[in-house]
Amino acid sequence: MVANGTNGMAAKRSGDSLTLEPDEMGHSRFGNDLLIKLHVLMKVSQIYDQKNVVLNQVVKGTLELINYFLNSEGSLNVKVIRDGLFINGKRLKVGVESYIAFKFVLEQLQKKRLGEIRIFGGLGEQMLKEFVYHMMNLDDGDEKNAVKLRDDLKQLEIKSIAVEPLEIIEEDEFFGGHSNPKEAGKRIFFETIGVIKEVVTGIKKDHFINARKMKRMVQGAINLMVKDESILLGLTTIKNYDEYTFNHCVNVSIYSLAMGRRLGFSKKILAELGITALLHDIGKAKIPKEIINKPDRLDGDEWRLMKEHPMIGVEMMLKIKQLGEMSPKMVIGVFEHHLNSDLTGYPKLIRKKDLTLFGKIIKIADCYDAMTTPRIYRSKPYRPEQALAIMVRDKNCFDPILLKVFIGIIGIYPIGSLVLLDTKEMGVVYETNPDPNYINRPKVILISQSEGKRRIGPAVNLAEMDGETNNYKRCVLKALDPRKYHVNIVKHFL
Ligand SMILES: [Fe+2]
Ligand SMILES: [Fe+2]
Repeated sequence: MVANGTNGMAAKRSGDSLTLEPDEMGHSRFGNDLLIKLHVLMKVSQIYDQKNVVLNQVVKGTLELINYFLNSEGSLNVKVIRDGLFINGKRLKVGVESYIAFKFVLEQLQKKRLGEIRIFGGLGEQMLKEFVYHMMNLDDGDEKNAVKLRDDLKQLEIKSIAVEPLEIIEEDEFFGGHSNPKEAGKRIFFETIGVIKEVVTGIKKDHFINARKMKRMVQGAINLMVKDESILLGLTTIKNYDEYTFNHCVNVSIYSLAMGRRLGFSKKILAELGITALLHDIGKAKIPKEIINKPDRLDGDEWRLMKEHPMIGVEMMLKIKQLGEMSPKMVIGVFEHHLNSDLTGYPKLIRKKDLTLFGKIIKIADCYDAMTTPRIYRSKPYRPEQALAIMVRDKNCFDPILLKVFIGIIGIYPIGSLVLLDTKEMGVVYETNPDPNYINRPKVILISQSEGKRRIGPAVNLAEMDGETNNYKRCVLKALDPRKYHVNIVKHFL
């Protein structure tokens, strides 16, 4: 029998059933044993029919191991993440003796595009057999396999097994087709707008929500930000009037992620923050369009309804099952995004309690993007530096330390600003200087005028010194209004 070498772990064998107590070593050991059994079972199922004696023995042995996990850990979850197998959330450390089995099981799951198998209740021999045969009969590479297998399980009335599709989260997914990170950034940016649009439209119609794709996009954005933060920050200068809501959600997510990175969040927390920011205004999906897009001031009733969107958002978020285990931080973040630091704002709080980090971060990102975006009721938005100045003055609204972090990210001449230089050239700010001492010395794309012709480029660093005079080569004199000078800012980031 597989589980006989206990190596000091708390495992005993009594009669025909295993009585084992969970511990780390047991988890790993029985995980390896389970793989070996699964390997044989999957192989045998391809050779013999369901009545074969050898098959029956393997099924029995596999069931014992499955039951070990059900009894000791409550359920059994086998998940593929990149090139690793995780059993009940723990990465399986593969031993030499189980390496071939590990490779086979992993490759089969990847080929069948299955990312997760969950067993959460009693399973009979026949059920396990049916499951393995149906799984092994799936076509390789078919993205719909998880759905097909779910249907098969439903028909077979097997309720204790659930399957999920394979999640592709490799970093290279976003760079594979695009060796150029700028292209990858554009793809993430525009695809995320599409995904959030799908989510909101789906919610309105009570349809299936593709939360997985949303998670993948956020993971791609985080990976790209680690490589080069300025690409996605630059794209936030796109203020698409027609697609305002979706564009706004993506921008808020990018600003929030940039802040989370400065605060040293792990990738897991960053992903949660990014998704929360993407969904922060999801409650607006249930507010009538006429109110959202009303060019005049909202009347009393309309405003009351509008103020409900954070709470509606919370209710909607809790209904998106595909979000998986949702951290309370995410729900609270959505709830708090219109609350000020002094706890004024909305929704009205009965118990005054300090805002969470997610809430405070999204609040800053949300206000900045809303102020710098043209809206139907405010065709002339604030210029980036004007918006920041107002936010700094509004002492009761924002957490002062987080606001400083935010200014550190977008600079006092924020990305997307048009500036006048002392050389009489203009410049479009495309990257801030990471050194806080040079916050007024970003990198800019030069725009110069000679003989009636406008010349674009090159890109220069305003921290650059002139070797002879020992002075800076260029300094910013002031910010300019791009509309006045007919400069299309977005063009420089695409
Ligand atoms: Fe909002
Ligand atoms: Fe918002």
